[in-house]
Amino acid sequence: MNIPEQYQIKNILNQQTYLVGGELKTWAGETSEVYSTISSTEIYKPTLLGTIPTLGEKEALQALDAAVLAYNKGQGLWPTMKVVNRIACMEKFVSQMKTKRAEIVKLLMWEIGKNLPDSEKEFDRTVEYIYDTIEDYKQMDRDSAKFEKNSGVNAHIRRGPLGVVLCLGPYNYPLNETFALLIPALIMGNTAIFKPAKHGVLLISPLLEAFKTSFPKGVVNIIYGRGRTVAAPIMQSGKVDVLALIGNSKSANALQSQHPKSNRLRLVLGLEAKNPAIVLKDADLDLAIDECIAGSTSFNGQRCTALKVLYVHNDIVEEFNKRFSAKVDALKFGNPWEDGAKLTPLPEPDKPAYIQELIDDATAKGAKVINKKGGETTENYIFPAVLYPVTKDMRVFQEEQFGPVIPVVPFSDIDEPLDDMAASNYGQQVSLFGKDVKTLAPLIDTLVNLVCRVNLNSSCQRGPDVYPFTGRKDSAVATLSVHDALRSFSIRTFVASKDNEYNNAILKELLDSRASNFVSTDYIL
Ligand code: G3H
Repeated sequence: MNIPEQYQIKNILNQQTYLVGGELKTWAGETSEVYSTISSTEIYKPTLLGTIPTLGEKEALQALDAAVLAYNKGQGLWPTMKVVNRIACMEKFVSQMKTKRAEIVKLLMWEIGKNLPDSEKEFDRTVEYIYDTIEDYKQMDRDSAKFEKNSGVNAHIRRGPLGVVLCLGPYNYPLNETFALLIPALIMGNTAIFKPAKHGVLLISPLLEAFKTSFPKGVVNIIYGRGRTVAAPIMQSGKVDVLALIGNSKSANALQSQHPKSNRLRLVLGLEAKNPAIVLKDADLDLAIDECIAGSTSFNGQRCTALKVLYVHNDIVEEFNKRFSAKVDALKFGNPWEDGAKLTPLPEPDKPAYIQELIDDATAKGAKVINKKGGETTENYIFPAVLYPVTKDMRVFQEEQFGPVIPVVPFSDIDEPLDDMAASNYGQQVSLFGKDVKTLAPLIDTLVNLVCRVNLNSSCQRGPDVYPFTGRKDSAVATLSVHDALRSFSIRTFVASKDNEYNNAILKELLDSRASNFVSTDYIL
């Protein structure tokens, strides 16, 4: 097996510690092995990458206690700290994180099979996200460094933390999406318990020391283990104020329902989607095909924003299918570090079998695999199958495939895709391909009410991260973006006083003495 020297797995990473209450505790109990579906040998064999602690309920509750203590009923060092000092902690963290790029990128490739350019992008985008978050928080702080006066009441209004956050991220962006929750949650003054995703867990190891040394003890607690064993008791305690989860709605629903006080629990969720592409008959076909290829196949379709169903107008569907299928077949499959590898091994060992089930179900109900390589299977992959014509009774139409299979649905009346979208449980984004403004205008006006982002002549995506990322129905709760995430993880809270000499003298003294970290008109430059 020809693996470049720098990407070879020479040592197994045995993660023996976990972070609780500012201490990296050594774990001597049961451990779980972490395998890559990528083989290091010519004869296929999954590669053992390392081990992680299989913590139990006791350790999970210790992590919770540490987070609760760090919040300390709102009196903790972290939630009461001056904004400028919390920012300094975050800056310290990100500068340490940057030194770990090579290790993390290598682990991203092995653990989840993401190709080298996309793994590098995931790392760099996350670092940029942290810096942008810091800048945005400074601006937010500047905007609130003032008093307002209405109806004889002075008010000093800021955003304050919510409390303890349980943070769970997905395997497809185990660094970026997890940090897109954790970083804003922390900077706003919350304390957190964070459990890395099942795949993409070892890549957090290089950061444990940075978490430990950058933040006061108990502010970030990192635990390992099965969700059911560690996350469930944390929720049952009723002490979690925010469930921050990017993943599937089944886990989100199960965790939510464990919490005994539903009004206490705030939710920040990014869940499933079944984003459609709608290709109108006047669409620029070359452009539509390229964007649909990127949208449906990048990272093998394992993106919540992936195009998961393509509606193509009857008048052009034949031509679309011919050219689209040829382009899918031309995509290169290879290991993540291989030059030009667009399709890469699937991290979930049972995914090829699941995708095959969807193909079998669709072909039994009348669809055909229209590309030559569609469905070709190896130990860790199944080549994207383009299925046509797909109908509503097929599982591939109903389920979020989150993998390499592309259903094409022909339509003649635009109400067909619109009705399907209205009936769908999901409502994240849509891609709309066409040119005629008279057709596009009413469609756009409808689509913005069915989803939360209409991508005109381009595939769906989350970025740039400064734009709002959210969804309707089962696709999301709350909005993420650099700016919106700071709002999602905080609440407006303020000090109000009647405008009279007695109160105003006190306010003046509060400001002059700088005794309060909250009541302050200091301006962060
Ligand atoms: O898995 C869902 C991600 O948020 C998608 O992000 O559009 O940048 O791939 P992306």
